[in-house]
Amino acid sequence: MATAADTIAFQTIPHPAPTSEADRTAMLANPGFGTQFTDHMVSIDWVEGKGWHNPTVGPRGPIALDPAAAVLHYAQEIFEGLKAYRHPDGTVALFRPEQNAQRFNRSADRLAMPHLPEELFLGAIDAILSVDGGWIPDGDGASLYLRPFMFANEAFLGVRPAKQYKFLLIASPAGNYFKSGAPAVSIWVSSDYTRAAPGGTGAAKCGGNYAASLVPQAEAIERGFDQVVFLDAVERKWIEELGGMNLFFVFDDGRVITPPLTGTILPGITRDSLIDLLREEGLTVVEERYSIDDWQSDANSGKLVECFACGTAAVVTPVGRVAGRDRDFTIGTGGPGQLTGRLKDRLTGIQRGQLPDTQGWVRKIG
Ligand code: PLP
Ligand code: COI
Repeated sequence: MATAADTIAFQTIPHPAPTSEADRTAMLANPGFGTQFTDHMVSIDWVEGKGWHNPTVGPRGPIALDPAAAVLHYAQEIFEGLKAYRHPDGTVALFRPEQNAQRFNRSADRLAMPHLPEELFLGAIDAILSVDGGWIPDGDGASLYLRPFMFANEAFLGVRPAKQYKFLLIASPAGNYFKSGAPAVSIWVSSDYTRAAPGGTGAAKCGGNYAASLVPQAEAIERGFDQVVFLDAVERKWIEELGGMNLFFVFDDGRVITPPLTGTILPGITRDSLIDLLREEGLTVVEERYSIDDWQSDANSGKLVECFACGTAAVVTPVGRVAGRDRDFTIGTGGPGQLTGRLKDRLTGIQRGQLPDTQGWVRKIG
């Protein structure tokens, strides 16, 4: 199999008609989330017996797929999400990208897909930023969202791991994930649906997990809530996570709880980073199960003072109101809590180069 060292030289094919400066400036002024894309994409192919080959950064555009491509039938697909930031000194930086590379390979393991060497994953990011670095918005909270993904493109209808895959990386200027701009999000507790069962794919970042979350998420929106929260699939009692974010609970005695990584939730890189930052502040963070009934009674008694969701897209987002069949409660004042605000400022300050990177999390590009 080819090693990263001999495949890392990306062939560059510049876009023949890139977006004009004026159009790009207009797009970057109000990026939203996930609707605008840069001019280029990275592509790398994998075939059994040959390994990774043909690393290219070229014009972004439609891809040809055989109608029998395995991904269209059996959903062999994984992805990652991370952001590139423009620092005040003009340099470009990433936040713990090697963690995304490693999680990508853990997802690949679970979906019976080949590993992408970490150097190639990071090299792909360097390659797209070298041609599309001008697409990083510098507005408040804005960044260039990077979406690396891999899927099975072998034309074969038998059910077995495919023997051919494509890795792509696209980039999308991003602002706030939540359109409403409300100070805190509201959450609907799903009683009818679960996201992941023990032994399933909950800890992998595979498209199928998100497909399964769409109906419960739509149900939450229909009822007027921003997000759905999932309970565990066995007892329907323990809080797991949202469709695309991990959760933290802050108590009046300074303790912080976040659900443990038992295989049914995504091991968030934001989650991991916040645990470190909280411990650095001297707070006690425990990774343990927390039940929906305790969530309600602790919020009502005032023992639970803050709750927030976190993730690359959502950053740190306060949770104000929670409701479900037979329950409806507010956490604290229903708005952003003090610790939540402080943590968000600390995390984004490090990511954006406004605060010292004491943990060595920031990787400068170029
Ligand atoms: N949980 C799910 C299901 C997600 O999709 C995400 C987003 O990637 C997260 C949690 C948060 O992970 P991270 O902090 O690595 O972005
Ligand atoms: C991310 O935060 O990167 C995700 O993949 C979550 C998704 C809901 C956008």
